[in-house]
Amino acid sequence: MVKILSVFGTRPEAIKMAPVIMELERNPGDFQSLVCVTGQHRQMLAQVLDLFDIRPDFNLDVMSSGQDLFDVSGKVLQGLKTVLAQVQPDIVLVHGDTATTMAAAIACCFSRIGIGHVEAGLRTYQKYQPFPEEICRRVTGAVADLHFAPTSVARANLLGEGIDGGTIFVTGNTIVDALQSITKRIAGDRALQEQLEEQFSFLDPTRKLIIATCHRRENFGEGIENICRALAEIATSDADVEILYPVHPNPNVREPVHRLLGGGSYPNIHLVAPVEYLPFVYLINRSRLIITDSGGLQEEAPSLGKHVLVIRDVTERPEAVVAGNVRMVGTDCGKVVAAGRDLLRNSSSQGDSGCCRDLYGDGKAACRIAAVLRRHGNGLSRANRESAG
Ligand code: UD1
Ligand code: UDP
Repeated sequence: MVKILSVFGTRPEAIKMAPVIMELERNPGDFQSLVCVTGQHRQMLAQVLDLFDIRPDFNLDVMSSGQDLFDVSGKVLQGLKTVLAQVQPDIVLVHGDTATTMAAAIACCFSRIGIGHVEAGLRTYQKYQPFPEEICRRVTGAVADLHFAPTSVARANLLGEGIDGGTIFVTGNTIVDALQSITKRIAGDRALQEQLEEQFSFLDPTRKLIIATCHRRENFGEGIENICRALAEIATSDADVEILYPVHPNPNVREPVHRLLGGGSYPNIHLVAPVEYLPFVYLINRSRLIITDSGGLQEEAPSLGKHVLVIRDVTERPEAVVAGNVRMVGTDCGKVVAAGRDLLRNSSSQGDSGCCRDLYGDGKAACRIAAVLRRHGNGLSRANRESAG
């Protein structure tokens, strides 16, 4: 029996850890699965916990409005000290690249507890791009005992940093597991489909739907303002287009987006609150184009055959750029507008990119992670304590 504590705190971590937690819970003979949420996000985290029916054993409840990196990291580090001492897990699972991830990894290291890093090895090798995610990933990679790399590119990055190949496992990205399970849920439920159609009846099915999201720290200020101007220009010059923009609740995002695009100035731009994950998957499927700086969307949209315009200068997810599903344009207004128009013109009426869809996984990542944990998880913390003396 392996005792596993999964620690996460934001919406994307929850979506990507849900398949792993569900897999551990499906095997109670092999795993004792406990969950600690840091509450780095509040409402956006609650949406995902409800959807996947995850009931946390611990909630550090750290979120405050307008928090900074010191607030989150400090509170998570301090809060986990007590939880780790109480639970004494064989291994803690963390995910990806957030402040929660890095602080939790450090807390485990200080407590000599085994660490499994899900979505390990993504890199841009540019310290401040994305910020602070690149550094959160590298720090977590430096202290993790097991590295669950989603792709062979991620594995190669870790090997290049001198990480022991015997501790790296290529599993696929768990986002594909989550996406497939939600897509199946929608496809198998006619009443749910009608409910979703009703929920989004304000969208005109004859228009080309663009979904836009933006929240990266390096885009705060001028970057977000440029993107808003680009969206306004696309919406104004093409009456056939409709833009749905779920606005991230971060005050650095909400303020400029509502100032530049709100107040009903653009009838074909809809600013909405963050959409729950299940309806959001439905919307991605309905869309012709995604314009985003989100990490998760760079994986989901290609998996559903959609084109993505990435409003960043570099990405740690090069696979879809190489395959042609993703185009990187930065945040220059003119470039975003030109690339957006080009992709709308050249995509099929269903928005199908025609590019390879299975770049990030096959929906079995959680099973592979559980298999590794069965083999290597037991006694990992004990081994760490022994080697630390
Ligand atoms: C965080 C992660 C980022 C991830 C993103 C996903 C860090 C440093 N950043 O950025 O890697 O891509 O989450 O969305 O860990 N807020 C709410 N309700 C919520 C969530 C956020 O009101 O449910 C507001 C609060 O004012 C909060 C602010 O957003 O203080 C910022 O949240 P924070 O988690 O610090 O940063 P994100 O920009 O969400
Ligand atoms: N997402 C969602 N509702 C929204 C916007 C995004 O459920 O209104 C999902 C999206 O499908 C993806 C995840 O949230 O799975 C990405 O989160 P975010 O962009 O906040 O973070 P990142 O992936 O950039 O870390």
